[in-house]
Amino acid sequence: MAIRHFLTLNDLSADELNQVIDLAIEMKAAHYSGTQQPIFAGKVLAMIFEKSSTRTRVSFESGMAQLGGDALFLSPNDTQLGRGEPIEDSARVISRMVDIVMIRTFGHDKIETFAQYSKVPVINALSDDFHPCQLLADIQTFVEHRGAITGKTVAWIGDGNNMCQSWINAAILLDFKLNIACPAGYEPNAELVAKAGNHVSVTDDPVAAVSGAHLVTTDVFASMGQESEQQVRLAHFANYQVNHDLIGHAADDVLFMHCLPAHREEEVSAALLEDETISVVWDEAENRLHAQKALMVFLLQASKAA
Ligand code: CP
Ligand code: NVA
Repeated sequence: MAIRHFLTLNDLSADELNQVIDLAIEMKAAHYSGTQQPIFAGKVLAMIFEKSSTRTRVSFESGMAQLGGDALFLSPNDTQLGRGEPIEDSARVISRMVDIVMIRTFGHDKIETFAQYSKVPVINALSDDFHPCQLLADIQTFVEHRGAITGKTVAWIGDGNNMCQSWINAAILLDFKLNIACPAGYEPNAELVAKAGNHVSVTDDPVAAVSGAHLVTTDVFASMGQESEQQVRLAHFANYQVNHDLIGHAADDVLFMHCLPAHREEEVSAALLEDETISVVWDEAENRLHAQKALMVFLLQASKAA
């Protein structure tokens, strides 16, 4: 049986991605109307966290509970993973006991190895290279506010990090334009940018990137694991704050997104983050819940059918 994993957005076709987004919107409506059924009764999600989290943990754990299933929080501090049990062994053992696994860790290769040895679907809940679950929520949020993202222009301002690289995958898959502005030395992976062709442009000029954009998005300058670089990065990224002045160069109906947590007055001004005529960050955060429920439904069904 071919198990369907979600390690990057590329594990879904464009049609499947749109299907997951549609289902997320449907499940959100069912959640609010109180008509959601316990379709995950008896199912267990293992959640392996090697980095901190608020949104990801709460959304996966609540999502499983709302659908009648259970979620196990597994930290390296109190599992054998933290004492050096090989990932291959952990994957074979854990996946014999649960129905689906999500992993947040450092090296993306760790998630790939886990998936290779897992009998059940594995979801990347953030690695140093990609954060595809966040993109599901972001696309859902754009669709809810503005309709299809295909053909639109998105501006990424800041570090060429895991979020930026997931936006590159999304631009290729859903056929929109992604303008990235980052300081020299902080560009996303060059191979990925090359693969994106005309879908992606990279500049060091935030104003040029934002020009005409329908969505402007950013993230912290120093990601988890880069705490020691915080001061140096603050200096290098000094001209990369998204604020009302910068976003004034975008389209009239521009939206602002941030995966959160946000550092006010660093990558985004407090005034813009709180300006709910432009900023949809709270909807974006909430949609992690709905999008991941839809993703789990999709992966479990597709793995059964395969
Ligand atoms: N955006 C996001 O993944 O948030 P957490 O780190 O709180 O899970
Ligand atoms: N780029 C950030 C995203 C946090 C959700 C990080 O990896 O820390």
